[in-house]
Amino acid sequence: MKVKKVSIGHMKDFPVQAGKKVHVNGVEIAVFRLLNGDIRAVENRCPHRGGPLSEGMVSGDFVFCPLHEYKVDLCDGQVQEPDAGCVRTYPVEVEGDEVKICLVEEKVGV
Ligand code: FES
Repeated sequence: MKVKKVSIGHMKDFPVQAGKKVHVNGVEIAVFRLLNGDIRAVENRCPHRGGPLSEGMVSGDFVFCPLHEYKVDLCDGQVQEPDAGCVRTYPVEVEGDEVKICLVEEKVGV
């Protein structure tokens, strides 16, 4: 496995407590900048009915899906009770002012 880092912009491009949709390698990812400055990235697709999490309301480490308000933990992607499910999370690195998503590339057909 190889980790590929893909630049998705600079810190100023990500408003605090808001989500932003980015496309990386054909995948739509929701990127959030939390109050404490941390950046989190999850798949931009709610496990309930595919709602765009990037348009949800951010509260602490959580985002509420804009469609039916599933509460998703932005650290581990887990949907909070009483609902259930999980979204994929992506590691993020900030180098200087540049924000990068880390993707794991798996070799196919080896
Ligand atoms: S689509 Fe997200 S809660 Fe229904």
